[in-house]
Amino acid sequence: PVPTLQRVDGQLKLEGLSLTSIAERFGTPTYVYSRAALSSAFKAYQNALQGRPALVCYAVKANSNLGILSVFAKLGAGFDIVSGGELARVLAAGGSPSRVVFSGVGKSRDEMRQALEAGIRCFNVESAAELERLNEVAGGLGRLAPIALRVNPDVDPKTHPYISTGLKSNKFGVAFDEALTLYRRAASLPHLKISGIACHIGSQLLDPAPMAEAAAKVCGLVDQLASEGISLDHIDLGGGLGICYNDENPPAVADYLAPLLAVFEGRGEELCFEPGRSLVGNAGLLLTRIEYLKPGTEKNFAVVDAAMNDLARPALYDAYHAVVEVAASATQSQRYDVVGPICESGDFLARERNLAVSEGDLLAILSAGAYGMTMSSNYNTRGRAAEVMVDGDTAHLIRERESIESLYALERLID
Ligand code: LLP
Repeated sequence: PVPTLQRVDGQLKLEGLSLTSIAERFGTPTYVYSRAALSSAFKAYQNALQGRPALVCYAVKANSNLGILSVFAKLGAGFDIVSGGELARVLAAGGSPSRVVFSGVGKSRDEMRQALEAGIRCFNVESAAELERLNEVAGGLGRLAPIALRVNPDVDPKTHPYISTGLKSNKFGVAFDEALTLYRRAASLPHLKISGIACHIGSQLLDPAPMAEAAAKVCGLVDQLASEGISLDHIDLGGGLGICYNDENPPAVADYLAPLLAVFEGRGEELCFEPGRSLVGNAGLLLTRIEYLKPGTEKNFAVVDAAMNDLARPALYDAYHAVVEVAASATQSQRYDVVGPICESGDFLARERNLAVSEGDLLAILSAGAYGMTMSSNYNTRGRAAEVMVDGDTAHLIRERESIESLYALERLID
């Protein structure tokens, strides 16, 4: 699933560098990303959207490392943020605020002020109460807040229930039937400027049909608004395109976008997208070393130095990540659960995998570029992994391994 990963003379290489050399230089566990894979994923969107006004806003939550953000900023990306923290990162990485959209159900007053002062492109407003608050905050600053309403098209994205977001039962967006009333209300508020409409139906989508269904519904609403004199300059269709972790067969970006673009054929609004996983997921892997092999009567365990605090997806969603040996080994293959050192049964990275490994060997946990590092924690007082970006035959350390002292530097002893 990782386009720039290949085995050369028994050694796994990402672009021009062997993962063994990266482990020797930076230690383990380490997240390793390929700049070429990031760029080609982004360009696939750019190419598919060529010839029509469009903006690809990378969903920062998928991986917010400044090194990654700066690669996308240089390619002309916009950014989809969900917090003031993510906005600060985008600006620190050289991203343009005029290409930032701000999603999320819980924007605080401070975050609104921060985004207004930066001059972001659009607030994707998710409730009536947020609309009122934003109007008030913008008025206080003497500014006009550009808004889109995030509508909930109530389509079933057919993905994992934890990551489907466009159903009525989800907390996201405003109900489709309420949208018109809310747009009218927004039009009457002096410190808001209606700019667009947004929707996002879920993540790891493998079928373009639900997206096209949502797009058609949104389109109908846009026309209804126009008939009331509320015209929009952009339509934001969110993110969600899935990737291959195991045996999934996601559509290519162009094939995923084609039915959507067909819905908007002949229309002038700018189309925005908020892809996260499909831009970074398969551009990154987690490099880890086997500490112990622990054979058992029911199961064999490979205890590695990465854990659920580094990559939470298996524990949290029962997600599958492919695991491969970094160097071909003479050892016979056996069936292992790959587990970390954390004191929880849920601390596994992979289960029931055939691996030919010995103690001290390196493993690559694939498809870990999205929602890996960003969902990591310091559980068990484990410093977060280092992050490295490979660019051709150069490796850049883009985040140092966290030191132990830094983990409690903000804490205080009391008498
Ligand atoms: N836009 C909005 C409003 C979103 O809520 C999300 C993701 C995206 C864009 C980006 O979606 P993507 O293109 O990455 O599918 N932690 C979970 C995924 C949670 C996704 C949340 N929202 C995981 O590890 O699978």
